[in-house]
Amino acid sequence: MKNKSLVSIYDFSKDDYIKILELAAEFEMNPTQDILKGHVIATLFFEPSTRTRLSFESAVSRLGGKVIGFSDSSSTSASKGETLRDTIRIVSNYSDLIVMRHPLEGSARLASEFASVPVVNAGDGANQHPTQTLLDMYSIKKTQGTLDNLNIFMVGDLKYGRTVHSLLMALSEFNTTFYFISPDELKMPEEYKILLDKKGLKYHEGRDFQEYVSDADIIYMTRVQQERFTDPIEYERVKNSFLLKKSMIENAKENMKVLHPLPRVNEIALDVDDTPQAYYFQQALNGVYTRQAIITSILGLK
Ligand code: CP
Repeated sequence: MKNKSLVSIYDFSKDDYIKILELAAEFEMNPTQDILKGHVIATLFFEPSTRTRLSFESAVSRLGGKVIGFSDSSSTSASKGETLRDTIRIVSNYSDLIVMRHPLEGSARLASEFASVPVVNAGDGANQHPTQTLLDMYSIKKTQGTLDNLNIFMVGDLKYGRTVHSLLMALSEFNTTFYFISPDELKMPEEYKILLDKKGLKYHEGRDFQEYVSDADIIYMTRVQQERFTDPIEYERVKNSFLLKKSMIENAKENMKVLHPLPRVNEIALDVDDTPQAYYFQQALNGVYTRQAIITSILGLK
């Protein structure tokens, strides 16, 4: 992983995933250290974020490193017309690693080609969110004790939700059975189903999960990604497609966990928050330890 960019989850191998998760567990035991002292991490967010940016910045700060960057590109020279490639070349001179979120699919790959330091993709359009995937895997391993042979339900916006795309790719290495629950307009894109077919993995598709809920090890809820719709009428039609309520998980396995990358809008009712199945706030906390593991591995410090 040393000096490698993390643009797609497939830039790392299955062994790399396992090493990151082991290291994240070490950081969870001891999150405050000086290992990043003298290192500068740039966080370039061309799209809004709460968890990803702040957990990266918290991860760096707790390890003694410094953060530079922006959370609003309108305050940068991008607003004067500077290209992404020039911005990246410049920021490469100011930092040891660049974390970037951008609305355009492929932007993180482009950035990695022009950067002289590693680039970590913090979300590029509807494409990928690999660091979210690693923290999701950490959360799944921590709660289920394994990543192998699980029944993973993905619910909501499977078309535009980048978190489910990269999570599917990574979990396809662990003999996962997938259940895709979405309205027809937001189904999992064909390319991901073809990937599962090639690997001989099972998946089910439907509009409702109630009859299968007792099979679920993980229910991964997602927000309908309003910002990706070109037609506001279509968004209005599907925006409230799935609201998970406490009554709907009463027959679930005792150890089933509900995950959500957050932010939630109208996908999980508040009455789920107090159930033993609710894990989404802890999941967001796990992002700090996982991102500590990612940064220190790429910088060759672990
Ligand atoms: N999970 C996630 O990417 O959240 P933010 O958009 O708040 O970073």
